[in-house]
Amino acid sequence: MPEFHARAHGGVVVWVVGDKINGGRTLTSFRQGLFFQQIGFQMHDVMIYQKKNTPFMRKNAYTNCYEFMFVLSKGSPKTFNPIKTETARSGFEMLTHNKLADGVNKKIRKELKKEKTKTNIWQYAVGLGGTTSDKIAFQHPAVFPEKLAADHIRSWTNPADLVFDPMCGSGTTCKMAMLNDRRWIGVDISKEYAEVARQRIKETGKQLQT
Ligand SMILES: C[S@@+](CC[C@H](N)C(=O)[O-])C[C@H]1O[C@@H](n2cnc3c(N)ncnc32)[C@H](O)[C@@H]1O
Repeated sequence: MPEFHARAHGGVVVWVVGDKINGGRTLTSFRQGLFFQQIGFQMHDVMIYQKKNTPFMRKNAYTNCYEFMFVLSKGSPKTFNPIKTETARSGFEMLTHNKLADGVNKKIRKELKKEKTKTNIWQYAVGLGGTTSDKIAFQHPAVFPEKLAADHIRSWTNPADLVFDPMCGSGTTCKMAMLNDRRWIGVDISKEYAEVARQRIKETGKQLQT
């Protein structure tokens, strides 16, 4: 199922989509990615949302544990606040600087960085407690991990920017936009899901005030 959130003027669309299994994979994801290009979007990045624990298994294929996250833009995204991760080694080390003609490596003392930009494969736990601890959200069948929404919101927008989720389901994106001081709008075709989102966001608002 696709998911979408956007920021106007130099913003990005994040489209999260997995394939249905219908005998084999439908490749809906690929078709949608190509369609976005045809209608003038730049495929800024193809990221992977990897699920740490997935109950979905196939008898004759490896267990699928990911969906695509297409990051679409028109021109270069205006905002990129990269998420950092710790490097395996940091501090001062003697590092190869320049290989000389005689084959001898010149070494110099250099400081290794403590952190580096995260890769574009993002891994999240799913299910109650992983996706969210809001029980009400599970009235929706396809809730996103809150952290996934928050990570994209922080990456591509700044505080006070507008986050728009036109297929907001249980309201994950709206909730995380609110908690990250962004303005937000959520829409869903289903009245039932829109009501779930409304209740969930109201509850979050109450918790913020206490
Ligand atoms: C994958 S779910 C979104 C889940 C959401 N990210 C969450 O965490 O709860 C996709 C949602 O899109 C909604 N939807 C499908 N077609 C739509 C349309 N044409 N306009 C608005 N919403 C639509 C569905 O009702 C569904 O709730």
